Amino acid sequence: MNDEVRTSKLDELRVVHRPLARHDQAEKIAGTTRYAGDLVLPHMLHARLVRAQVPSGRILRRDVSAARELPGVVDVLLGEDIPNNEIRVDVPGQTIEVQPLRASMQVLATDRVRFHGEPIALVVADSEDVLARACSLVEVEIEELPVVSDPAAALAEGAPLVHETGNLLAEWTIDRGDVDAALAEAAVVVEGEYRTQFVDHAYLEPEAGVGWIDDDGVLTLRVATQVVEHYRDVARILGLPEAKVRVIAPYVGGGFGGKEDMTVEPYIALAVWRTRRPVRMQWTRNESLLARPKRHRMTMRYRTAAAADGSLLAQDVEILADAGAYAYLSALVLLYATVHACGPYRVPNVKIRSRAAYTNNPPASAFRGFGGMQVVLGYESQMDALARRLGMDPGEVRKRNALVRGDRLPVGQELITEVQLPQTIDAVRERAGPKPQPSGPRRVVGRAIASNFQSYGRLVWLNDSAAAWVGFQADGSLTVRCGVPDIGGGQAFSLGQIAAEVLGVELERVTVHFGDSALTPLAGTTTATRQLLMSGNAVYEAATALRANLLAAVAAATGDPVESLTLEPGAVSGPTRRVPIEEVLAICRRGNVPVEALGTFFGPKGRPVTRELAGERIFPDFTFGTHLADVEVDLDTGQVRVLRYIAAHDVGRAINPKSVEGQISGGVVQGLGQALLEELVVRDGVNLTPGLFRYLMPTAADVPDIEAVVLESGEGVGPFGARGIGEPPIGPPIAVIPLAVADAIGVQITALPVTPERVLAAIASRRG
Ligand code: MOS
Repeated sequence: MNDEVRTSKLDELRVVHRPLARHDQAEKIAGTTRYAGDLVLPHMLHARLVRAQVPSGRILRRDVSAARELPGVVDVLLGEDIPNNEIRVDVPGQTIEVQPLRASMQVLATDRVRFHGEPIALVVADSEDVLARACSLVEVEIEELPVVSDPAAALAEGAPLVHETGNLLAEWTIDRGDVDAALAEAAVVVEGEYRTQFVDHAYLEPEAGVGWIDDDGVLTLRVATQVVEHYRDVARILGLPEAKVRVIAPYVGGGFGGKEDMTVEPYIALAVWRTRRPVRMQWTRNESLLARPKRHRMTMRYRTAAAADGSLLAQDVEILADAGAYAYLSALVLLYATVHACGPYRVPNVKIRSRAAYTNNPPASAFRGFGGMQVVLGYESQMDALARRLGMDPGEVRKRNALVRGDRLPVGQELITEVQLPQTIDAVRERAGPKPQPSGPRRVVGRAIASNFQSYGRLVWLNDSAAAWVGFQADGSLTVRCGVPDIGGGQAFSLGQIAAEVLGVELERVTVHFGDSALTPLAGTTTATRQLLMSGNAVYEAATALRANLLAAVAAATGDPVESLTLEPGAVSGPTRRVPIEEVLAICRRGNVPVEALGTFFGPKGRPVTRELAGERIFPDFTFGTHLADVEVDLDTGQVRVLRYIAAHDVGRAINPKSVEGQISGGVVQGLGQALLEELVVRDGVNLTPGLFRYLMPTAADVPDIEAVVLESGEGVGPFGARGIGEPPIGPPIAVIPLAVADAIGVQITALPVTPERVLAAIASRRG
């Protein structure tokens, strides 16, 4: 790669590395951004799903005749009406040893339902008002079957089968060194069992979209999604050529992994295709909570061995994940949990066994952190337990074991970039100063730190790539086209910054068109903290190539050596003269030099893994960080108040420091929600959390200002040395809160969320 720009001095950067306000900010604040559900088209119809009211059963009878006769109903579809009634989640590169990783479920269930809320029929009507009544007229008779709602029970002998293939969905193992010998000779061994709960993404924007057939006969969906490439899945379901389906991703009002799998797409597409009219669908919050995949709840058992000086000798880890009723991305989420299970630490001897089980609970799939999050509770609780046993400072134990460049992860991957984990520990502590005093006599204060690491970029054997197009307009303004969905992280704006920087254009004269499977080069999913790495590098490459073309053309025209030329806003400057951009473009036209370029960035490559995980390289790279929290616990009510929260991450290079801060604050608040409040409660497969009145989320009143500390090693594999920061900040909160509470009350709570009831029980156990 041409590194002239990448390695330029930071103070020479004009646009990148500056805390600029995003172009989409005013509309979002004013509420005028047109999200997926906001579009209204002439003659538009409305669609809604009829869903299973029981978690497990055999469908005996479906009768849609009464619903069809209701005035205003245009169509009612069952699974038999769908050309290919199958949603497939293909996970390329997976090996057959890992159970049914080609995840599959019916678009509309025809014979069997496996979770409360599974779609059975699709009703299309000419108004929203008719839909509810029409849905109630669809008759569904279900013979209830036994329910399995606990993953351990699901794996026990004789458990009811959720799927005929068995309830073990996926299993991964890591074996490295000799764990038993290390445990036997260690100075200390600490053990713990930790549990995380089901949580929901609970974004403001529900699953929604509008579809139509355009004038070229292309089925077009404008939907809330992280993945425009789902046009392929829609095409397969409808039996259409992929070229006849288009997905447009407008700004997304929160994705967090919940819009990574398809939600409304196939249903809108089917309704449009059958009725030949525009169709809108928007799930209610109830539907969203019932049926869209959750974060896996996990039970994690850790045994950790260390020498007397605190050096880690061994980790023995068992993970059991509740995958719910369908596979979705569970096998990969579990793989992430396995690879991240030992944390950002050097561990010579490792044994990990992780399993995911089918249950009749809501399906679980992608959620910010993607399996790398839950294990933070496990490994960080173990680090504090070690520190207590050895009488060491928690920061010192972490620093002593922190990974450094050249170390290998348990899975075998060598770290090729610098790790600034100790610096993040020092940063949060320096900033925090002394521990605060309690605000009253029956109150106690606690402080803790928690570190983590999280991969960014997809698994290397998936052969990831992203493309972007950059082109000058005749007046020297710049157009960027990239298929990236902007889900609120500032993805589009960052690309504009990179193009503007490389090509010497003022940011105000750059437009980024994004997220359209037909008109923007495909850039892959906005998931896995991959877009700055992938589409960022694609834009960087396109812009760098274009820049080289322009400078060469000017050099040829003026006789100045190409190295002496610089692109600056509005002109190319050289020793003999300054050529205005319009003239530069005219020189290019005369010389048949393209003033546009397509850049394709190919991610690092690696070999597929087997169930026994071992690889030279599993992920492109990782982002490291440390959080510090001060909490106050009310000894009478068990209430936990977060007094202060500081989060430090090495982001490599902050392309837009404002966006980085936004990602850190948002991730922390979402993580605090899981730490303290949120739980999707399912009993015997029945969802008891049907609305946000029972699913408690933090509001501005529940969290302090999040203080973000941004370190920049310049060591990332993204453009300008950037690392990803979308997912990493959500991990530490679920550990640092229980650890800070433990510092306050002297007992560690090991199951999330840290509710007042659990705090009071912990205090009582201490007295007993
Ligand atoms: Mo995701 S959890 O959007 O990779």
